[in-house]
Amino acid sequence: MTIAIASDHGGYALRQHLRTLLEAEGQELVDMGCASEEPVDYPPYAFRVAEAVAGGEADVGILICGTGIGMSLCANRVPGVRAAVVGDTYSARMSREHNDANVLCLGGRTLGPDLAAEIVRVWLATPFSGGERHRRRLAMVAQREGGGTPCCPSSNG
Ligand code: RB5
Repeated sequence: MTIAIASDHGGYALRQHLRTLLEAEGQELVDMGCASEEPVDYPPYAFRVAEAVAGGEADVGILICGTGIGMSLCANRVPGVRAAVVGDTYSARMSREHNDANVLCLGGRTLGPDLAAEIVRVWLATPFSGGERHRRRLAMVAQREGGGTPCCPSSNG
């Protein structure tokens, strides 16, 4: 599995930590910056990773800024990307099982290094459940992304 990873300055230290761990585990990483803790704007880094995932150069992406929020706002504007800001291992699992998230966004200023590493491990190890209701909901997201308006039944489980 190829993992594209990037951060801004707010996520730089956590990105270095995660890179070390993931490389030691034999994961194939494509590091897309930034180069140091000097302040940079996060959008170009988010778009770089999101486009790598959407274009198939990477299977999944990891984006880290101060909170993960700015990165997720940007990544979710790239068609085909489902980016999730995650701060706990339950959400990490659900974002894969239910949402088929393909980009994980983390907060370098909100997460300790051990929790962040555990979130990444759980996220990478959890497959999409493939459940019919989840596929249906994700198809609605994709339809909206393509400019359509999904029908909205009042209750269907
Ligand atoms: C940078 O100060 C900070 O705004 C950024 O890392 C991120 O948290 C934005 O969402």
